[in-house]
Amino acid sequence: MKTNRLGILLSGRGSNFQAIAREIAQGTLDATIAVVISNRADAAGLGIASELGIPAVCAPSKEDAGLIRILQDHGVDLVCLAGYLRMLSPAFVQAFPLRILNIHPSLLPAFPGLDAQAQALRHGAKVTGCTVHFVDESMDTGPIVLQSAVDILDEDTESTLSARILEREHQIYSRAIQLLLRGRFRIEGRRVFAGQQ
Ligand code: GRF
Repeated sequence: MKTNRLGILLSGRGSNFQAIAREIAQGTLDATIAVVISNRADAAGLGIASELGIPAVCAPSKEDAGLIRILQDHGVDLVCLAGYLRMLSPAFVQAFPLRILNIHPSLLPAFPGLDAQAQALRHGAKVTGCTVHFVDESMDTGPIVLQSAVDILDEDTESTLSARILEREHQIYSRAIQLLLRGRFRIEGRRVFAGQQ
């Protein structure tokens, strides 16, 4: 049977990428990471990929054509954004229809964009969390695959809240990937019906 090939795009520390790699190593996610790509040469995630023996590529260009080619050359079935701090072009989104996922540290549509955890604290929200969603041509707006809620505690700071959300991110990203790779979903309008989890 064909193994599903993931392409991970990141810009920084890469803890979501590592969590996905861990699930694959443990046999709880049926996939392989074909390539890790960063737009920043100093992204820690690139070094981690190399240590794990995963092809690691720095692609700083603002043109997405090169990025599309790298992913296609590595036979990528599903593109996973994991802290990739750059908007993708419409051409990129169209090259991988319903095959690009992102993880965001809030319960979308609340608190899109940068510093979602700080936005939630500033707003005085009592609950926030994280969201795995399909990527469309706007920022953090695509159909939602999975979410996980996290209570905001009175004593929370941006860093304590971010750490608790991150733990959940590491759980739901692999679950969402597994659901999609098994083809266990259908989309009606904005709603993703993911069936048994
Ligand atoms: C995560 O909080 C993710 O939700 C957001 O960027 C952060 C990336 O963290 N999109 P890491 O690089 O995966 O550790």
